[in-house]
Amino acid sequence: MKYKKYILLPALALLTTGLHAQDGKRIAIETDHTALILNIGKNGRVYQSYLGERLADAADNNVLPQGKEAYITGGMEDQFQPAIRITHTDGNPSLELIYADKKVIHPDTGSTETIISLKDPQYPITVNLHYQAYAHEDVIKAWTEIVNGEKGTIILNDYASSMLHFDAGSYWLTQFHGDWAYEMQMQESKLTSGIKEIDSKLGTRADMYQSPMFLLSLNKLSDETSGEVMAGTLAWTGNFRFHFEQDQNNSLRVVSGINPYASAYQLAAGKTFTTPAFIFSYSAHGRGQVSRNLHAWARNYDVMDGNKSRLVLLNNWETTTFNFNEQRLDGIMDDAVKLGADLFLLDDGWFGNKYPRSNDKAGLGDWQETKTKLPNGITHLVKQADAKGTKFGIWIEPEMVNPKSELYEKHPDWIIKLPNRAENYYRNQLVLDLANPKVADFVFNTMDDLIGKHPGLAFIKWDCNRLMSNNWSPYLKDKQSNLYVDYVLNLYDVLKRLRAKYPHLPIMLCSGGGARTDYEALKYFTEFWASDDTDPLERVYIQWGYSNFFPSNTVTCHVTSWGKQSLKFRTDVAMMGKLGYDIDVSKMTPDELAFSQQAIKNYKRLSSVIWFGELYRLVSPYEANRAVLMYVDGIKAKAVLFNYNLNIREREQVNRVRLQGLDPQKKYKVEEVNMMPGAKPILADNGRTYTGDYLMKIGLDLNGWHLKALTSSVVEMTAQ
Ligand code: DGJ
Repeated sequence: MKYKKYILLPALALLTTGLHAQDGKRIAIETDHTALILNIGKNGRVYQSYLGERLADAADNNVLPQGKEAYITGGMEDQFQPAIRITHTDGNPSLELIYADKKVIHPDTGSTETIISLKDPQYPITVNLHYQAYAHEDVIKAWTEIVNGEKGTIILNDYASSMLHFDAGSYWLTQFHGDWAYEMQMQESKLTSGIKEIDSKLGTRADMYQSPMFLLSLNKLSDETSGEVMAGTLAWTGNFRFHFEQDQNNSLRVVSGINPYASAYQLAAGKTFTTPAFIFSYSAHGRGQVSRNLHAWARNYDVMDGNKSRLVLLNNWETTTFNFNEQRLDGIMDDAVKLGADLFLLDDGWFGNKYPRSNDKAGLGDWQETKTKLPNGITHLVKQADAKGTKFGIWIEPEMVNPKSELYEKHPDWIIKLPNRAENYYRNQLVLDLANPKVADFVFNTMDDLIGKHPGLAFIKWDCNRLMSNNWSPYLKDKQSNLYVDYVLNLYDVLKRLRAKYPHLPIMLCSGGGARTDYEALKYFTEFWASDDTDPLERVYIQWGYSNFFPSNTVTCHVTSWGKQSLKFRTDVAMMGKLGYDIDVSKMTPDELAFSQQAIKNYKRLSSVIWFGELYRLVSPYEANRAVLMYVDGIKAKAVLFNYNLNIREREQVNRVRLQGLDPQKKYKVEEVNMMPGAKPILADNGRTYTGDYLMKIGLDLNGWHLKALTSSVVEMTAQ
C-alpha cells in the first residue's frame, strides 16, 4: 500500500495526512496476517496509519506516516463524509474527539478487543472505538459506542460503525445487488473521484435490492487467488449504508454503518448508543482467502451453532402453497420419510380462524391453527411426524399483520402506518410496530407459545415478506426518526429472549427470499433462505454471490420444480449449500426417487466437508459458461467438487480445471457421485488416483466428451 507525500497539500490536510508522528503512541490491531495501525497524534487525535498485510518487523510500525484521522467528526475542519456528526443539547453541531484511554481485553480465546476511548474536551460526550481482532481467522470487527453524558437529548445525525482509509492507485468495488428472485448479483466497477454509496432504505426487508456487503480491491481488480482485497459486511438487519469517497488526492475513505437516512437518532441523557459491527477481512492474496476467513470466523464465532450439522428438510410450499389439510400433510410427511429427509417443514397457510389464511390476503397475526384445515392442530402434526420417524417444523411471519385479521381489529395502534393517510399495503400486509415494547412482547409470546406448547417442534422458518413504507410508529410519538433503528434493536431483543429459552432450535431466516442476510441476524438463526428463485441456472449465480461471505451451512438451497433443467442438475446445484427439498415427491419417476434418495445419502456422507471445509472457487460463472468450485476438509483428506455447465455450447473449448487447497503430497482417488441410475460418469478421469500436486498443476477434465449445456457433476476426492 502506498502512502502520500505531504508536499503540496493544503494546510488543513497537512494536519491529518502526511506528518510522521515518530513519537506518537501506536495502537496495533493485529491478526495473524493483517494489521490496522492507529496512532495518537501530538494533538491528541487518533489517526489510521496503516491497514494491510502485517509488517514483518513490528518496529516498522513506528515509522509509519501519521495518516488520516480514524473516526472523523462532522462540524469541524474536515469537509468530507464524517463518521460521526451530532447535535448537542445546546444546538452546537460539532464534535471533537481526543484520545482518553485504551483497554485491551480478550473476550474469548481467539480474539483480542481493543477499546479506544475518545472524549470531546468541551462536551461530556465519549466515543469508544471497539476493534475485535480474530487472529487465526484474519477478521476484524469494528463498532462504536456513543455515550451521552449531557443533561439532555443529543441527536446522532451520522453514527458510523467504522471508518477506514485507503491510499492506493485505484479502487475496484464489487457489490451485490438484486431484487426478489434475483438476489446477490455481482457487479464490479472502478471507483471514480467523488462518492459512491450502497444503501438500503427498506427497513424490514432491508437487503432486497442491495446486500450489506462488498469487496474492495486495491490497485487492480482482485481475482480468486491474487490481488489486495478487503471483504466488508455490516451486521445489521435493517437499513445500512456504505459510503465510498475518493478525494482530490485519490485517497479513499469507507464509512460503514446504519443508514442515517430518516434516522437522526435521539439519544437521551445518560444513554449509550452501540452501533452494529462492521466485519472485515483483508488479504493480499485474492478474494478466495477473504471468503475462507469469513467462513471460518462465522462458524467459530458468529452463526448460531455454526459448527453443528443441519437438517435436510422437505418443505411443502412449492407443492401446495396454501391448499392443504391434515390428510395432504400426512402424505407429504410419508414422502419426507421415503426421500430420506430429516424433517417435514409446513409453510404458510396453517393459521387464522375468523380470517383463515387461504391466500395471502388474510390471517397474518392470528397465530392459531385453522380448525377447518387442521382440526387436531400442530400437536397432532408433531406426533404424526414422530410416529413416522421424521421431524416436524413450521413457518411463521411474526412481525406482520393482515388488515383482515383479528389482531388488526384488536390493536390498530400496534401497526406502522401514517396518520391522515391511506394504508399502504405490500403483499396485502402491514408491519407491526416493533418499536413498541408491547408489540415486541407480543412477537416474543407468539414464538414462545408456538415453541413452548409443542416441545417436539424441531425447526422454524421465520419469514418477513414486506419492506417498510409510509412509516409512523404510534408508540414513538415525537421520536419518529428513531423508528428504523429501534425496530431492529427490539427485534434483536425478542431474538435474544427466544434464544435464552430455546438455545439450539434450528431457525431459518427468510425474507420473501433472501432479503435479510446479515451476520447479526445469524447470531440467532442457523441459516437463511437464499432466494425464492430455485431455478438452478439462476441459483448458481445467487449462491456464488453468497459464497463470498457466508459459509455453506448457512445458505439454504432447495431442490424444487423451478427451471426446466434435469432433477440431477437441480440437485447438484442445491448440494453446494445447505440442501433441502421443496418438491412434489409423489410426482417423481422411480429413477428420480432412487436418485434423490441416493443424493441425500451422498450429501450426508459429504456434508461435513461442504459445511465445514474450505471453499475454493475455481471457475466463475461471471467469466465463463460454467461454474466450478470445491470444498476441502481441514486435514485435506477429503474434497468435493461441483461442476456446473451453464449455457455452454457443445463444442465450446473448455480447459481442464486446476484444483486448489489439496495436499500436494497426498494421493487422491477421484470419483464422480450423484448419477442418475444407469448414467455414466462425465468425468474423464473417473476412478483414477492422482497426487494433489498433479490435480493442482494439471487438473481434471471434468466433462470428457460429454459437454452439454445445463449438465453437472459432483466429484468426491478421497486421500488414499
Ligand atoms: C416467501 C418465502 O420466501 C417462501 O419460501 C414462502 O415461505 C412464502 N413466503 C410463504 O408465504
